[in-house]
Amino acid sequence: MSTPSAPDATLTVGDVADRVGLAPSAVRYYDERGLIRSVRTTGGQRRFGRDTIRRLAFISAAQQVGKTLDQIADALETLPDERTPTHDDWAAIATSWRPGLDEQIARLEALRDKLDGCIGCGCLSLERCALWNPDDAAATLGDGARWLLGESLSDVDATATATAVHDPSRS
Ligand code: FES
Repeated sequence: MSTPSAPDATLTVGDVADRVGLAPSAVRYYDERGLIRSVRTTGGQRRFGRDTIRRLAFISAAQQVGKTLDQIADALETLPDERTPTHDDWAAIATSWRPGLDEQIARLEALRDKLDGCIGCGCLSLERCALWNPDDAAATLGDGARWLLGESLSDVDATATATAVHDPSRS
């Protein structure tokens, strides 16, 4: 996203790309997404301030822990005056992301344990396979071979949500 003025904006797209090891197209993309800020020369070329390097380091670190660009943009928007994350900002944001990362790890470990049961098996049985039919989810959709009828785990989630909304015991 271009801003009207930035006196220290002297780095070209190529300069920034070289400093952080990104393709120039990625730098332009992040600029268009508003994750970094550029100004335009009279000839229409982008120029970036030196804080762009730190901003891209923040984006890269956030991506390493699985954050999407939307989530990263949300985190950047929490900072006053759209500033580049300071040392303390990054420490606070990283701390706030820790519980979510712990949950993701726990979910993946549980999936790995279920996958262990499939290794060397291959049955893909509705009765036995914890990945194909976790917690006998197919049974919540009714009788019969629900997956073969075209339903899937996403239908189970929708049914569970609808039940939660209409179940007076949950209110
Ligand atoms: S394939 Fe047999 S338990 Fe998953």
